[in-house]
Amino acid sequence: MKTERCEIDALIDNRKVYLYAAEALEAGKLVAIPTETVYGLGADALNAAAVARVFEVKERPSFDPLILHIHQAKELERYAVVEPVFEGMINTITKLFWPGPLTLVLPKTDLVPDIVTSGLDTVAVRVSAHSAMRGVCKALGRAIAAPSANKFGRISPTSATAVEKELGGQIDLILDAGACSEGIESTIVRPVLDEKGRPALELLREGPITREQFRKIAKIVKPKYQSPEAIQAEQDKPLAPGQMKSHYAPQKRLQIVEPEAVFVPTAGVRYGLLTFEGTSPLAAQDCWSSVVSLSPGSGRLAEAGVRLFAMMRQMDESTEFDEIVAEAIPTHGLGAAIMDRLRRASV
Ligand code: TXA
Ligand code: MG
Repeated sequence: MKTERCEIDALIDNRKVYLYAAEALEAGKLVAIPTETVYGLGADALNAAAVARVFEVKERPSFDPLILHIHQAKELERYAVVEPVFEGMINTITKLFWPGPLTLVLPKTDLVPDIVTSGLDTVAVRVSAHSAMRGVCKALGRAIAAPSANKFGRISPTSATAVEKELGGQIDLILDAGACSEGIESTIVRPVLDEKGRPALELLREGPITREQFRKIAKIVKPKYQSPEAIQAEQDKPLAPGQMKSHYAPQKRLQIVEPEAVFVPTAGVRYGLLTFEGTSPLAAQDCWSSVVSLSPGSGRLAEAGVRLFAMMRQMDESTEFDEIVAEAIPTHGLGAAIMDRLRRASV
């Protein structure tokens, strides 16, 4: 199959491209669509056969559910049930963070095919802030089911070129809008009742909307953890399979060095260092074949987030070294999501 690539130019009206992509989705085809977080592999959410192809192409286990992307918050209740007890909290969250990198997990309506939710009675929904994802949702007139456009367990793509390398030849169309502005997948939360029966939130995946931001709105309670082994054994339904310990994995071995720690290289192995700013004592050690900075010079977490997956891909492809060493970064704000991805990549 030839994978077509269409450019999206932020300075012009792209409605024709969005319509073209929507027609492809309508015909059951798969289209990679940029969002502000990472590129998604989109299918018409109400076409179970098309959604099945998403699982096939991604080699994704059938127990790992997809996120629905909708054009605007008003459409939420077509796909999800807003229970009265959570209505106030959900309104606050959607007003503050939609469109944006935030996914809500709520009970699903009957409209949503079981294959989208892997048989769960809940569905994950978000309104992306990217005009392309929203534009195609609008043109299609219904939700688009879209996981990140990478093979299961691998590094998420933050550019059209990265999608092409992962899935080229296996999907019909890629919309190319350049680099993603966030670079890290959306934060996932689920409204629950705390032990006193009051509305609270489970933080199922760390992301660009931070724990600190949610704390101002609601109490955050620990998700009920299910080990990946239990999930595999039962072929059961994970709370958020992004919780699986190993994820976002490069092919090279990746290990993390904690702050202040000294790295002891093994003789004969060539190492590349993934550092935050490049100014740390670790970066000054003389054992690196290559040093890559997430935020060269400026030390900004947002810049590190945008560059994380692209730098991991670049390091994975480099022939200059055999293994990746990642320096732990500060875990406040967005740093928590970045460290979450690095830790899973290191298992
Ligand atoms: O930023 C993002 O969220 C990107 C872009 C494309 O929107 N999408 C993305 O999708 O990261 P994916 O499939 O790579 O990750 C979706 C995560 C998975 O960890 C999945 O288990 C979880 O969402 N999820 C989906 N439905 C769920 C549900 N009903 N309950 C709990 N977790 C769910
Ligand atoms: Mg993913």
